[in-house]
Amino acid sequence: MSIELQREIAKRRTFAIISHPDAGKTTLTEKLLLYGGAIQMAGTVKAKRSKKFATSDWMEIEKQRGISVTSSVMNFPYGGFEINLIDTPGHQDFSEDTYRTLTAVDSALMLIDAANGVETQTKKLFEVCALRKTPVMAFVNKMDREGRDPFELMDEIEKVLGIGCFAVTWPIGMGPSFRGVYHRISNQLLIFEKDADRARPVPLKGLALDSPEVVAELGEEATRQLLAEIELLTGAGGDFDRQAYMEGRLAPLFFGSAVNNFGVQTLLEALIEIAPAPLPRVAVERKVDANEPKFTAFIFKVQANMDPSHRDRVAFMRICSGRYERNMKAFHVRLGREMRLGRPTQFMAQDRSLVDEAFAGDIVGIHDPGVFKIGDSLSEGESLVYTGVPVFAPEHFCRVVLRDPLKSKQLSKGLDQLSEEGAVQVFRPSHSNDQYLGVVGPLQFEVVVYRILAEYGVQVRFESLPYSVARWISSTKADVLDRFISANSQQVCFDQHDHPTILVDEPWRLRLLEERNPDITFSATSEGPGKLR
Ligand code: G4P
Repeated sequence: MSIELQREIAKRRTFAIISHPDAGKTTLTEKLLLYGGAIQMAGTVKAKRSKKFATSDWMEIEKQRGISVTSSVMNFPYGGFEINLIDTPGHQDFSEDTYRTLTAVDSALMLIDAANGVETQTKKLFEVCALRKTPVMAFVNKMDREGRDPFELMDEIEKVLGIGCFAVTWPIGMGPSFRGVYHRISNQLLIFEKDADRARPVPLKGLALDSPEVVAELGEEATRQLLAEIELLTGAGGDFDRQAYMEGRLAPLFFGSAVNNFGVQTLLEALIEIAPAPLPRVAVERKVDANEPKFTAFIFKVQANMDPSHRDRVAFMRICSGRYERNMKAFHVRLGREMRLGRPTQFMAQDRSLVDEAFAGDIVGIHDPGVFKIGDSLSEGESLVYTGVPVFAPEHFCRVVLRDPLKSKQLSKGLDQLSEEGAVQVFRPSHSNDQYLGVVGPLQFEVVVYRILAEYGVQVRFESLPYSVARWISSTKADVLDRFISANSQQVCFDQHDHPTILVDEPWRLRLLEERNPDITFSATSEGPGKLR
């Protein structure tokens, strides 16, 4: 194995930010790019998706592109490392695409609004990370505003999300009296400058906690309180346990204010020091180490109509091992043939650029002439099928009503295409000839209506269904499964791959079914055409 290859791979950090709308994800993303030198002036990302758009404009853009416009990838350098940040949509509605993004990363950054604590969308996204045991670090934002007590926030993260916390930095005051943070690992006080130039990285001013300047800087009262809080934290737990972080059991916690550039550099430092380099990935055949010399990758996202004037599609691949070279040929495992991976693109703020080479950990967009599906694996000839790009259980359901019955063929074609892209899931109820659609965020329904009309010329109407939970069902005992299906035939459907799925209206009813049917496995994710998880 070449040392050079290994060195390149060790420099990669691939992560996503998970948060609830308004916690400051756009702001933080922008600041990360600013510190990475990827953008000169803060404001670039913001301008692209300012909330100044009326909701209806926003939806129009969403609909026109057919899939979330915001869910893209940014690559930027920092401190000799190459960072891949995968963005997830920040608005109220999100799609399965948002969840699936998390399959392509090695770690996640959970952003929490200091005043609001753990909010619903953060919780949902965190659950996907927990399912995959993705290491998560947390950033409590907006410390320049009056928010919740930091101990209370830590407690909430631990209780609501079921993950331990280790405060790497600890805030000194908040709101108007926010003075900065104490970095517990480097033993430094980092002083907050209120009126820092927001368009420029702010140099950090550090002081050792035992330095006499601390009292001069903070005053006696604040110093006493800080020392007492640090003692409390130290008493509550020992040193930072990186292994626990790597196993998804412990979240290193940071405090700051993204809009004021405060805490951003500390986060980036932590990302390169603590967050994992590209991790091994599991394929059906074997586990693949990122440092293996041969190129392998999987497709986790296919974005259609990125440019509405051409019907172009971009497939996003996560490189899992080795090195990718521009114009190289790769083996498309599902199709069983070699193909050239054209127009390899990396993205930075609004710019795209063609890349000559990329390494394990990197996310690269490639031109898709219509041959890629989500979950496809690529290799240098090995028949290797990556797992772990699951289909997530939808939470909103409707019945499709076709306005013109003669168009049922086109409708099927459209729904097949959209389900391949992962925009929607199609279910066939066991008791009727209807077609049900399931999505993770209800906005997707509008996207589907729009695209079915625009791209396939079919007018459809949706009738909503009373379900909110879907579970793929399986059992080691075939007769038990058959009996369960016939006893619950009104609620059992078959998905695109003919896997039985049960739809229920309320979570408590699912719990009841689980209790009463211990021989049935109820899965919140499915591995698609292959075996169920
Ligand atoms: P999102 O992508 O997670 O939805 O959040 P976004 O970055 O758009 O931030 C939401 C709001 O929170 C914005 O205010 C933003 O300026 C503000 N914000 C972000 N970080 C901080 C922070 O550290 N402190 C404070 N006080 N506010 C912060 P807005 O009024 O909605 O937009 P704008 O007029 O500022 O652009």
